[in-house]
Order: sequence, then C-alpha cells, then structure tokens
Amino acid sequence: MEKKIVVLAGDGIGPEIMSSSIEVLKVATKASELTFNFEEHYFGGAGIDHQNNPLPEETLAACQSADAILLGAIGGPKWDGAAKTPEQGLLALRKALKLFANIRPITVPEVLLDRSPIKESIVRGTDFVIVRELTSGIYFGEPRFLGETEAYDTCYYNVDEIKRIVRQAFTIAQGRKKQVLSVDKANVLASSKLWRKVAEEVALEFPDCTLTHQYVDSAAMKIIQNPRDFDVIVTENLFGDVLSDEASVLPGTLGVLPSASYGETGIALYEPIHGSAPDIAGQNIANPVSMILSASLMLRQSFGLDAIADQIEVACFATMEAGILTSDLGGTTSTSAFTQEVIKRIK
Ligand code: NAD
Ligand code: IPM
Ligand code: MN
Repeated sequence: MEKKIVVLAGDGIGPEIMSSSIEVLKVATKASELTFNFEEHYFGGAGIDHQNNPLPEETLAACQSADAILLGAIGGPKWDGAAKTPEQGLLALRKALKLFANIRPITVPEVLLDRSPIKESIVRGTDFVIVRELTSGIYFGEPRFLGETEAYDTCYYNVDEIKRIVRQAFTIAQGRKKQVLSVDKANVLASSKLWRKVAEEVALEFPDCTLTHQYVDSAAMKIIQNPRDFDVIVTENLFGDVLSDEASVLPGTLGVLPSASYGETGIALYEPIHGSAPDIAGQNIANPVSMILSASLMLRQSFGLDAIADQIEVACFATMEAGILTSDLGGTTSTSAFTQEVIKRIK
C-alpha cells in the first residue's frame, strides 16, 4: 500500500536534518509492506521566498491529502519583524489541520546521562510526556493589538478546547503510570481557573488515573529538581512551549527531542521541538536525532510499524553509545556522518 508523506523541510537546519531523516526512513522501510512516497513542499521562510506565502495554498492542499506530515523547522533572522513571517505559516498550518494536541516525550536515555548538565542521580530514569495544547490560548486569542505605545494579546480557552486536550492527556496516561499533572496559573489567570475546573471534571471520566495540579512557575522548577516525579503533564499552549524547551536541559540538548501533533482530521504532523537553529545552520553540524526520532514516531503512531521504529531508535542510541556525537553533545561528528553511522546500524 502506498502512503503519501508530505515533507516540509523549512528553514535553517530544517533541510539538513530532514534529508538525514528521509535517508534513514528510506533504508529502514525498504522491506516494509508499505511504500512511502515523499512529496516536498515549500513552507515557512522558504514559502515566503518562493511563493510569497509562509503556507502556500498548494502546500496546505498537499498536507490536507497527506497520510502524514514531516516538518523540519521554520524561521530565522531573515524574516524576523517582516509583515509575513514563517511562524505565521506554522500557526496557520496547525490551525487548518486542527492539530490541537502536541505530544512532547521527554526521556534521558542511558547514553546521555553523562552529557546532561544536571547530576546523573537526578536525571536517571527521566521519562515523562508534555501534552501541549496547540491551537488556542494566547497564540490565537482575539483581540490582539500591537501599537506604538501599547500592545496586548488575549489568552482565550473554552470548555471544549480544554476537555479534548485533557482527555488526550488521560488517554496517554492510561498507557503509562496513570498520573496526570495539569499545569496552570490558576492563582492569577481566568483562563487557568476555567482550565483547572474542567480538568477536574474530565478526571471523573478516568477513575483509574490520578489528577494533580501545579502552578507553572513551581512546575518549571520541579521539572529540573525532580524530573522522575512526572508522568504526563498537560498544559496550555504557551506554558507547554516554554516547559518543553526547559525540559530539553535534562537530556542535555534540544537536538534529540521529537514531537507529534494530532488533531480532529486524523492527519498527524511530526516535528522536532526545536527551531531552525540559525546559529549553526548551513554547517552540517546539527544533531539530526530529533528529526529521525520524529520520523520513527510517525512510523509507530501513523502506520503501526513498531518494529521498524524500534530498529531506528536502537540504531540512533547505539551510534551515540559508540561515542559518535554531534557538537551539541560535545562531539565532532557532522550531521551527514552521523546519519551514515545510523544507517550502517540499521542495515
Ligand atoms: P532553536 O530551537 O532554533 O535553537 C536554540 C538552541 O538550540 C540554539 O543554540 C541551537 O543551535 C540549538 N539547537 C536546536 N536544535 C538543534 C539541533 N538539532 N542540533 C544542535 N543544536 C540545536 O531556537 P531559537 O534560536 O530561539 O529560534 C530560531 C528560529 O526557529 C526562530 O525563528 C524561531 O521562531 C524558530 N522556531 C521554529 C520552531 C519550529 O519550526 N517548530 C520551533 C522553535 C523555534
Ligand atoms: C515550537 C515553536 C513555535 C511555537 C513557534 C516557532 C511559533 O517555538 O514549535 O515550539 O511557539 O509553537
Ligand atoms: Mn517552542
């Protein structure tokens, strides 16, 4: 059976790590019963440069008829402050595909224990998931205004938006340690007060799981202090954005963290949690693991190819265990050389 994968390489290191990940996918899925056809489209800054639109119509149409989407990263100083920005394209794509649930798994594999800036005794065994609401909150709320002397945004949530993301978190928790932590700022924000109330109501539908609450400032501290205490964290759009980058300190780099976004249409999008890393773009030194693991998440979640996903993950970790590391982890291996080492371990 044929599957259409829409590939949005994007900007900065996006194309570099995307080509790694596609190379790995092609080798790993060679003998699979599924045939993957990769279709590349302009997106983000590349969309602005080629089609004057960060989300060109044909890119959106391709995504809407895809079996799954792989996204590298978008953005960069070239487009910062312009009327059209790459980030607008990313938000518009998430909204158009109704990708309300962004799943960001945070683990510290054995091989990275001594690479973490946090003590090994603290990070060992870290394994939690951030379930980030992705299509509402302050990113999308109206009204918003940017003037010369004042500016504002609106953090809007309604009951249905909160219910569906909290349900998603509980469903994930049922396959794990059954502990959901809802992170909010209910001591101050109206949107968080509603969030907490609705989370309590949803918890009644999942009597096999526990629900606790924590304020975001305290959660930010505890994620670093006691990362093993967490199982599933559910939170609103902006808090999830910030907490997930913070959590990347545990494995020691953003370069190993994948994510998956799910929505109402059944089309899922897989992307690293990091950005286009303009500071290292074009040098063939980016860590491609975040993108390769995003692709393996795709094989697992969208196509049920668990054995191949396992094989890719084992190959990535074995490569790192052999001391073959990119510069973000203190090594000297290039993106392309790392990729070949992963491929060698898959064959
Ligand atoms: P960033 O995530 O791009 O980079 C933060 C730091 O992490 C940098 O030092 C970078 O070199 C490093 N890093 C990130 N990924 C890496 C990898 N795979 N290997 C090695 N090092 C890696 O964040 P930023 O610099 O704040 O943002 C740059 C641009 O990316 C901005 O335009 C921003 O809007 C955009 N962005 C896009 C996405 C996305 O496409 N989903 C996500 C975040 C930021
Ligand atoms: C992310 C990014 C995006 C976000 C930006 C680029 C719009 O930081 O995917 O985490 O804030 O969601
Ligand atoms: Mn982010």
